[in-house]
Amino acid sequence: MSTATGQAARPVSVGAARVADAVKVYGSGDTAVRALDGVSVDFPAGRFTAIMGPSGSGKSTLMHCAAGLDTLTSGAAFIGDTELGKLDDRRLTLLRRDRIGFVFQAFNLVPTLTVAENITLPMDLAGVRGDREWADALVDVVGLRDRLHHRPAELSGGQQQRVAVARAFAGRPDVVFADEPTGNLDSRSGEEVLNLLGRAVRQMGRTVVMVTHDPVAAAHADEVVFLADGRLVDRMESPTADRVLDRMKAFDARPPARKETSS
Ligand SMILES: Nc1ncnc2c1ncn2[C@@H]1O[C@H](COP(=O)(O)OP(=O)(O)O)[C@@H](O)[C@H]1O
Ligand SMILES: [Mg+2]
Repeated sequence: MSTATGQAARPVSVGAARVADAVKVYGSGDTAVRALDGVSVDFPAGRFTAIMGPSGSGKSTLMHCAAGLDTLTSGAAFIGDTELGKLDDRRLTLLRRDRIGFVFQAFNLVPTLTVAENITLPMDLAGVRGDREWADALVDVVGLRDRLHHRPAELSGGQQQRVAVARAFAGRPDVVFADEPTGNLDSRSGEEVLNLLGRAVRQMGRTVVMVTHDPVAAAHADEVVFLADGRLVDRMESPTADRVLDRMKAFDARPPARKETSS
């Protein structure tokens, strides 16, 4: 699929999440950076989508704007058919809490809480009973039954990230966003986390959007979308690490993201 047609060829479906004509400019004047330069992409429900691209291509910015952690300069971001830019702060906070799960590179667990408490934290904060059976089943899926009463500092990095994965899915969110979830893990722990994300989608019907710069990680997804210089430049179905790597090699010669004011 070529650069220009990659975006237009697909009909826009109502995905679990999507952005339309997304532009994000950081800063202003001479130092402004156009991190997203008109991206339209949908993340279908029940699918595992990877966002891939060189460092600085806008992957994290796209994820943060799609997940309501940051706002677009122009364009629109949707979770289901809810347009994030139309929500006030309170509603946006509730939407993030109730409809989105997050997994970050740095785990972001609460150090003073046990594994069990970390997993149910989003539900506890929401003051909802949630589906405790589901949360309990997740404990087995991520293989942490014998660590439930430990604190994060007593776990390996891989175990901590598995707690974060269980926490992200505990409230049955519409979509789980993961930003470089294997970035701090050795390859074996990373593989476990990626397998968990894949199982959540294929066996449990969940939706995952994962940012990564690692072709091996991206190969776990159903589809890869490629960003370069803040633009969507390609999509790849049923990726393999080799094909993703080949595609990425084409980016290597490119210059880094340009300044807003230069051309
Ligand atoms: N908070 C920020 N302020 C200014 N520039 C930023 C900020 N966040 C990201 N950028 C810039 O936006 C571009 C895209 O960044 P990012 O989305 O983090 O890329 P990636 O995740 O693909 O590495 C980069 O040029 C980066 O330096
Ligand atoms: Mg990033």
